[in-house]
Amino acid sequence: MFIDTHCHLSLEDYDDIDIVLKENREAGIDKIIISGCTRESIVETLSYIDVYEDVYATIGYHPSEALITSDDDLSLLEKQIQHHKVVGIGEIGLDYHYGKEDILEQQDLFRKQMNLAQKYHLPVVIHSRDATEDTIRILKEYPNVKGDIHCFSGSLETARIYLSMGYYLGIGGVVTFKNSKLGSVIQEIGLDSILLETDSPYLAPEPNRGKKNSSKYIPDIAKKLGELLDLSIDEVSRKTLQNTNRLFDLQ
Ligand code: NI
Repeated sequence: MFIDTHCHLSLEDYDDIDIVLKENREAGIDKIIISGCTRESIVETLSYIDVYEDVYATIGYHPSEALITSDDDLSLLEKQIQHHKVVGIGEIGLDYHYGKEDILEQQDLFRKQMNLAQKYHLPVVIHSRDATEDTIRILKEYPNVKGDIHCFSGSLETARIYLSMGYYLGIGGVVTFKNSKLGSVIQEIGLDSILLETDSPYLAPEPNRGKKNSSKYIPDIAKKLGELLDLSIDEVSRKTLQNTNRLFDLQ
């Protein structure tokens, strides 16, 4: 049994959600946590958690939305996160990859949503790209908030900083890529703080790299972790489920 702790599920990417979920179940994926991180995808995400028993959500405004997210959006978000199947806030964070013009707005949006996480005792799902230092600095302002560093692909040193802060690392398809250095980081830190995720429809793991990703490929990521750590796929499943249940309250 597996849980995909972070993916996106939108009719923009998949023609038939029922088929996606059926294929997931056949592949041993019992539950998925989908992330809505724009105004529209938050509404779409919320519509699925009411309909599908095995679907949970994290919602929150992605840093790419920093210039267009209003206080009204955030007031609405505060109401939306109170749904019992919203298990966290995210993906939120900082993305300096495309330039730094909106860096202050990104940080402001990030902090406002960290405040919500603190107020409602919800974990956060962090998107951090080319912004490690500032991400760590802001997370440290909220020592009571815990979360998942989604799609982690940093150095061993960075991994250790996040772990020392009580954060989990979301590991997906990148670990299966031939030139990825992530494998050696995992071999150092082990599975204690690892969550499995696909980030589908992006970043499909080998042997389906380049294709549209789906939660059904989670076992390929687990298999790779097992190879790296000399563990059976069942052991990887058990351990990562434990981690998932410790962070997210999936009822
Ligand atoms: Ni994502």
